[in-house]
Amino acid sequence: MIEEYRDRLPVSDTTEVITLREGGTPLVPAQVLSERTGCEVHLKVEGANPTGSFKDRGMTMAITRAKEEGAKAVICASTGNTSASAAAYAVRAGMVCAVLVPQGKIALGKMGQALVHGAKILQIDGNFDDCLTLARGLSDNYPVALVNSVNPVRIEGQKTAAFEIVDMLGDAPDIHVLPVGNAGNITAYWKGYQEYAADGIATHNPRMWGFQASGSAPIVRGEVVKDPHTIATAIRIGNPASWQFAERARDESGGFIDEVTDRQILAAYRLLASQEGVFVEPASAASVAGLLKAAEEGRVDPGQKIVCTVTGNGLKDPDWAVAGAPQPVTVPIDADAAAEKLGLA
Ligand code: F0G
Repeated sequence: MIEEYRDRLPVSDTTEVITLREGGTPLVPAQVLSERTGCEVHLKVEGANPTGSFKDRGMTMAITRAKEEGAKAVICASTGNTSASAAAYAVRAGMVCAVLVPQGKIALGKMGQALVHGAKILQIDGNFDDCLTLARGLSDNYPVALVNSVNPVRIEGQKTAAFEIVDMLGDAPDIHVLPVGNAGNITAYWKGYQEYAADGIATHNPRMWGFQASGSAPIVRGEVVKDPHTIATAIRIGNPASWQFAERARDESGGFIDEVTDRQILAAYRLLASQEGVFVEPASAASVAGLLKAAEEGRVDPGQKIVCTVTGNGLKDPDWAVAGAPQPVTVPIDADAAAEKLGLA
């Protein structure tokens, strides 16, 4: 991905790029969402990245730069995806990776990724915000590079998703919808869109619409949430590091940041899987839940071009796919019996 946009990223001609061939993710037309909203809706499917989330765009940059600067070890706080990505890219770079995660609050698939890539995992009896405070303290005082999105090169890498969308659509969409957790990604997309518009590659900027989970909605409430909660563990964050940048993206673009309930998130999660054929993790569905909420409230004018980023792969956190779904039926090895169960007979 760095190679595709090398002239727009903070690398030199001699920088050795650490990559797993991230980026170039599908922009999928969403038929059912388009019908429901009267708009042209596309999904930017970031779960198709090598470790299954958009974090790989930022991590190829962060690890590339850390390696170039001679770091031997990297550290991050994470709700799961950043740690999975950091762990994988650290392997490619031959570096040690340490991760700080909130105990019992990260999806099993993400924990498995950090483990299998050999990261050193510390669990904290606290939330993501506590993990980030500790990670900052460690990187300030010990020889370890911080690869959270407070590291500005992470934002640089993640802005490439906006470039890809404009390159695919031929111009910027009218509206871009994202889930918001630590608020790095909305910051990154806004930066990418602005750069392309400034250079005349896009004729305009989209309005940026961000959605937090109701139990973890500090930007919407205008105050830190001390004990954030939501089933969408990836965005269970009470004090986003890029809070001000997210507000700037919202205000400069004429957009808004709102909240969606866990119920709305799960409804969108099931709709995406069962009607669009796209399996995402719950936090990713917050963007689509938000779009549907806005449409119900009459805030979506028909005929607009809308892109929703779905940030992570559903396989990372399959518990919600299994929970409440009909159980598989056991049948004998007999075509007639199987056909009967399938309603074919
Ligand atoms: N969606 C997913 C799947 C995420 O993992 C995250 C953040 C977000 C959305 C929100 O993005 O933080 O840039 O606003 N996950 C981080 C992590 C916090 O540690 O993996 P954001």
